[in-house]
Amino acid sequence: MEYRKFSKFEKPVSLFGIGCMRLPTVKKGDEIVVDEAEAIKMIRYGIDHGVNYVDTAYGYHGGQSEVIVGRALSDGYREKVFLATKSPVWLVKEYNDFDRLLNEQLNKLNTDHIDFYLLHALNKERWNFIKSINVFDFLEKARASGKIRYIGFSFHDDHDTFLEIIDSYDWDMCQIQLNIMDMHEQATVEGLKYAGSKGIPVVIMEPLKGGKLAISITPEIEEIWNKAEVKRTPVEWAFRWLYNFPEIAVILSGVSNMQQLQDNIRIFSDAKAGCMTEKELELVEEVRNVYLSRTRVQCTGCEYCMPCPQGVSIPRIFNLVNTAAMYNALEGCRREYKGLIEKQNDSSMCVECGQCEATCPQNIAIIEKLKESHLYLLQE
Ligand SMILES: NC(=O)c1ccc[n+]([C@@H]2O[C@H](COP(=O)([O-])OP(=O)(O)OC[C@H]3O[C@@H](n4cnc5c(N)ncnc54)[C@H](OP(=O)(O)O)[C@@H]3O)[C@@H](O)[C@H]2O)c1
Repeated sequence: MEYRKFSKFEKPVSLFGIGCMRLPTVKKGDEIVVDEAEAIKMIRYGIDHGVNYVDTAYGYHGGQSEVIVGRALSDGYREKVFLATKSPVWLVKEYNDFDRLLNEQLNKLNTDHIDFYLLHALNKERWNFIKSINVFDFLEKARASGKIRYIGFSFHDDHDTFLEIIDSYDWDMCQIQLNIMDMHEQATVEGLKYAGSKGIPVVIMEPLKGGKLAISITPEIEEIWNKAEVKRTPVEWAFRWLYNFPEIAVILSGVSNMQQLQDNIRIFSDAKAGCMTEKELELVEEVRNVYLSRTRVQCTGCEYCMPCPQGVSIPRIFNLVNTAAMYNALEGCRREYKGLIEKQNDSSMCVECGQCEATCPQNIAIIEKLKESHLYLLQE
């Protein structure tokens, strides 16, 4: 296991971090009922094999993740790890909510302190709101009281918003979504390097794009990876591409069974910054291009088309179509699309007013593409 040293932390962190958003469940597809005994066994197995970073959040598994992590860390395991959890900022309506939620989390986690306390899933809107109600005053007081030790944020928005947030405070760390497909999305690789240049350690989430990079391996992609001198699995390449960056402190791996955990611990056993050769980086680019070539709608998600007067979630629908096509993930995307139908935000609500097409910078024939998307996402 590689441990990375950052001057902000008092001891090195394991590059492998256990992400507790996708714990094993009793029934596939039902994320609420966690197989607790197996989850505890897996978390402890990871710690016994050198992992010292455990990540959870208020909302994971319908609120159960923190409780189960708390139980997994009893019997002496709490002292062996950095425990990270996140403030559910969308539930904060006024200043006092911050402390109320933190106390609830300490209780659920059965601990007197949280090592890394992150403001969860910041975007521009949430950021502006929590700043307006003095979030830093709360964080500083929580740190002074010993309830939290390091202050950070996790992030889901665009590069410019990331820069704004990261320059607004002397953060101890941040957490971003990054993988071979998202190198130019969200915070981006440039954002990662910028954080690194400021000495802010970066924790990575969704390294396998939520598992899609593990299941969408076509013969074309396999052929590209087979050109590498050393043969590795696509999961291994995805992790290697990340641990190549020295700015990364921890890569959070979500695992839904023991075999995946063991596989990933094995993969991380030869993690080194700078391990990827030029040729291997070119292969990553080739694989990325194959995925991108399957894109069905050239939507960039800029949202200039929004709001739609009929409530159609245009960028969301195109994102589902592209995800389904790129990663052979039709089943999951169909499920999400049915959710949009229930809320009447689906393509069938379109009355063809054309307002969206007039503002789309990509000149997408949105009306036509919405019709196609509806048929595609509803096919059996
Ligand atoms: N702060 C935030 O907003 C936020 C958002 C997302 C994630 N996170 C954190 O980051 C962690 C990591 O993100 P993630 O769970 O999305 O990670 P990920 O690595 O992108 O996806 C995890 C999924 O990949 C598959 N997988 C993992 N290892 C595998 C292997 N060796 N072989 C085959 N498939 C494998 C599994 O999918 P199957 O279950 O389908 O088999 C697993 O559930 C989360 O657990 C959570 O702690 C935070």
